[in-house]
Amino acid sequence: MTRQHAPISPKLPGLMHGADYNPDQWLHDPAVLEEDVRLMKLAGCNVMAVGIFSWASLEPNEGQFTFEWMDQLLDRLHANGIFAWLATPSGARPAWMSQKYPEVLRVESNRVRNLHGMRHNHCYTSPVYREKTSLINRKLAERYGNHPAVVGWHISNEFGGDCHCDYCQVAFRDWLKAKYGSLDALNRAWWTAFWAHTYTSWDQIESPAPHGETMVHGLNLDWRRFVTSQTIDFCRHEIDSVRSVNPSLPATANMHMIEGLDYRKFSEVLDVISWDSYPTWHDYKDDSQLAASVAFYHDLFRSLKQKPFMLMESTPSLTNWQPVSKLKRPGMHQLSSLQAVAHGSDSVQYFQWRKSRGSSEKFHGAVIDHAGHENTRVFQDVAHLGQTLNHISEIVGTATPAETAILFDWDNRWALKDSQGPRNMGIKYEETVYAHHRALWKQGIATDIIGSEDSFDGYRLIVAPMLYLCREETGSKLQQFVEQGGTLVSTYWSGIVNESDLCHLGGFPGPLRKTLGIWAEEIEGLYDDDRNGLKMLNDNVLGLSGTYEAHEICELIHTEGAEVLGVYTDDFYVGRPALTLNRLGHGRAYYIATRLKEDFLSDFYATVTAEAGVNRALQTKLPQGVSATVRTNGTTDYVFLMNFSGEPQQVELDERNYTDMETGDSVSSTIGLPVNGVRLLKRQSTYSES
Ligand code: GLA
Ligand code: ZN
Repeated sequence: MTRQHAPISPKLPGLMHGADYNPDQWLHDPAVLEEDVRLMKLAGCNVMAVGIFSWASLEPNEGQFTFEWMDQLLDRLHANGIFAWLATPSGARPAWMSQKYPEVLRVESNRVRNLHGMRHNHCYTSPVYREKTSLINRKLAERYGNHPAVVGWHISNEFGGDCHCDYCQVAFRDWLKAKYGSLDALNRAWWTAFWAHTYTSWDQIESPAPHGETMVHGLNLDWRRFVTSQTIDFCRHEIDSVRSVNPSLPATANMHMIEGLDYRKFSEVLDVISWDSYPTWHDYKDDSQLAASVAFYHDLFRSLKQKPFMLMESTPSLTNWQPVSKLKRPGMHQLSSLQAVAHGSDSVQYFQWRKSRGSSEKFHGAVIDHAGHENTRVFQDVAHLGQTLNHISEIVGTATPAETAILFDWDNRWALKDSQGPRNMGIKYEETVYAHHRALWKQGIATDIIGSEDSFDGYRLIVAPMLYLCREETGSKLQQFVEQGGTLVSTYWSGIVNESDLCHLGGFPGPLRKTLGIWAEEIEGLYDDDRNGLKMLNDNVLGLSGTYEAHEICELIHTEGAEVLGVYTDDFYVGRPALTLNRLGHGRAYYIATRLKEDFLSDFYATVTAEAGVNRALQTKLPQGVSATVRTNGTTDYVFLMNFSGEPQQVELDERNYTDMETGDSVSSTIGLPVNGVRLLKRQSTYSES
């Protein structure tokens, strides 16, 4: 594993700091544009994302291109030492295009074509949309591909959604033909004999529709896979059209927390991962639960390419689209921005630089408010962060030394939620994954979020919560991982279906049965108020005692070689195994048969990670709500201590020698962190260079 990556752009070797910049909204007022540059420098910004949604300003009429404003913009930025991620404008198209070529507009699942409007409202298959996109992209690349200000391509904006037009139906059928080869194979994979759904001609296959088919789970799953594949194909088409001029420019596409696209597959066509993070800070006094889930997404996006990512968007103050939009309390801007860096981001960027005067985002937080000057709390917070990022730029390219991984597959997520199983009122897959991740986060354990097709090498612990969709190959890979000395944690509702959403026959958890040493016979959902419990057996290897509350999901399992560590406390389940350990080869595989709460997960992972030899950021116990994470180049470790608890905290350091990065002073044993406080320390690395 590389511990030191090259900077994202050789032109800009420091941490990136900047914003989405939309000067095309202000072209009528040149003074604003001049003032912007003065303020950017004052805020310590070194990069802007430009041209997102600029199609109407770049091609106001079909074939008429107006690049002068972009020429001036890029020259002005360059003259002032500011770089640019240049966007392709396909996130929204000009009205003339929708009017002349209605096929570019998206058709919803009800088969009604949208009118012009909004954004992200286009068909990824439409030949016209593809042609128009590649034309404008090529022109941008020819004109700016070698511009000294340009550091890379920002492809479109937040790809997402699906289109059900005739072009897309044909493309879907072609995709299915390539996948299955024959209708027979497709009918078997989708179990279509059920309800007489057998297809006798490819043309009978339609994408899922509210007034048509929604109950063939294999169809639903393949449609989602197709949508990912088609969106990637469109993205690749965009990249190809900008690439030719200067192949060395990296391409990114800003992602967000959407479920609809398998970003792991998406990452294959991108050079850099970037994402947009908008947490609702301060919903509660204690922000730690939210901070842990944000950490999960930073970990996920970093893991997609196993190298530093970019925080492409965040708000410097509030959003205007959340149910309640709260301002960032003092300290939170620094804390939340450095949290991204702590988890592997080499940039902190915002939406947007200057607040729009009108339209839907006029009240969304921005670096420059409608007041138009730097004398605002938000601007000062941003400028302060700019100084910090500049000061800590040696962190660029350093790695996150994760020895633990959580398995989180998009197709598992889709299939599990579509399964019509034991708890349709809330199967809570994501919540469960976050809960396991949070238990690790609370102990300062670095975690990668990986897919079952990724390599398992180098991990000591793999956590696979609710691995409902489990391919035979995944089962074999996990078995090998355990046999070779790894520790696996798995839970109820795992190993249930294969990649087509067909149940594994012969006993659950299917391909994991041998590794876990159990047979899961039955599963049920519980109502919100129902409870069962886990009673730890005396002298269990984990050293845990007492009982823990169980809720929502209970599975009845039999051991087949596994050792029982704890049993159910209630109902006819009493005395039956609820927590087991199977020793296989050199490793261990734990099975948690019922949903347990945070108290159990904390105690469980404290012991399991210690036993598995997983490193923690600090060897001391972290106070509630304090996160500790490490970036390292194998020589120096950078330790981030972050207080999300809403209370002042004291963090005890371990025996190693620490230096405060802000002051350069060596740090003694205890560090005080105010509310929303963050401290960055250096120490000699405890990790090897590779
Ligand atoms: C998304 C978009 C931006 C903007 C922000 C507002 O991330 O990419 O254009 O709308 O949301 O939060
Ligand atoms: Zn379409």
